[in-house]
Amino acid sequence: MFPAVVLQGRLVRLRPVTETDLPCFLRWLNDPDINRWLAMPESGPPATLEAEHAWYERTKQDPNQLVWSIETHGGHLLGNVALHRGFRADAAELGLFIGEKGEWSKGYGTDAVRTTLGHAFGQMGFRRIYLHTDVENQRAHRCFVQCGLRQEGLVKEYRRRWGETRFIDGLLMAILTREFTGELAV
Ligand SMILES: CC(C)(COP(=O)(O)OP(=O)(O)OC[C@H]1O[C@@H](n2cnc3c(N)ncnc32)[C@H](O)[C@@H]1OP(=O)(O)O)[C@@H](O)C(=O)NCCC(=O)NCCS
Repeated sequence: MFPAVVLQGRLVRLRPVTETDLPCFLRWLNDPDINRWLAMPESGPPATLEAEHAWYERTKQDPNQLVWSIETHGGHLLGNVALHRGFRADAAELGLFIGEKGEWSKGYGTDAVRTTLGHAFGQMGFRRIYLHTDVENQRAHRCFVQCGLRQEGLVKEYRRRWGETRFIDGLLMAILTREFTGELAV
């Protein structure tokens, strides 16, 4: 679902995904500089606009997929962030991307994650947020560490990039409510 609540961060705003965001998502998901870092189905990109619309309709109705668009306070779309609830109602896997490559390393990802955590541990009452990332994704690792996530383990042969035969290792990272030092959104 695309929660109606709009979350204000220091640099970004998280707001419900709209259908007008989909062409940007498509462009980003088809960009090898971006999708190389994303765990995707092995069928991989290219994504199509039809597939994006199908994802939008599916996700809109799925209470276990919570997705926000990330934009600047000026309304410039940057990417999206998601919480995927698994078998536990009070735990979720976080995923995000900043699709505008020229905007990487400017603090937007860190602010989006912190803002999401504040809401997840505050109003939503989650107890544990975790994620997987490629070992070699140093930018993402730094972003997550500065949000308070800690490495819980090495995931050997975590995934294969689309079009590659080699398996790459991943990291399992997580943060619990009691470890979060940021501002809770209540
Ligand atoms: C990962 C991602 C969400 C991070 O968002 P971002 O806005 O670029 O990140 P931030 O600027 O908040 O933080 C990144 C930090 O890593 C640092 N960094 C950048 N490249 C780095 C590198 N090669 N090695 C170590 N640190 C690096 C930045 O300087 C910054 O640290 P700082 O705040 O101390 O300056 C974004 O880059 C992205 O979407 N990348 C492509 C998709 C992806 O990797 N998604 C995550 C999959 S798990």
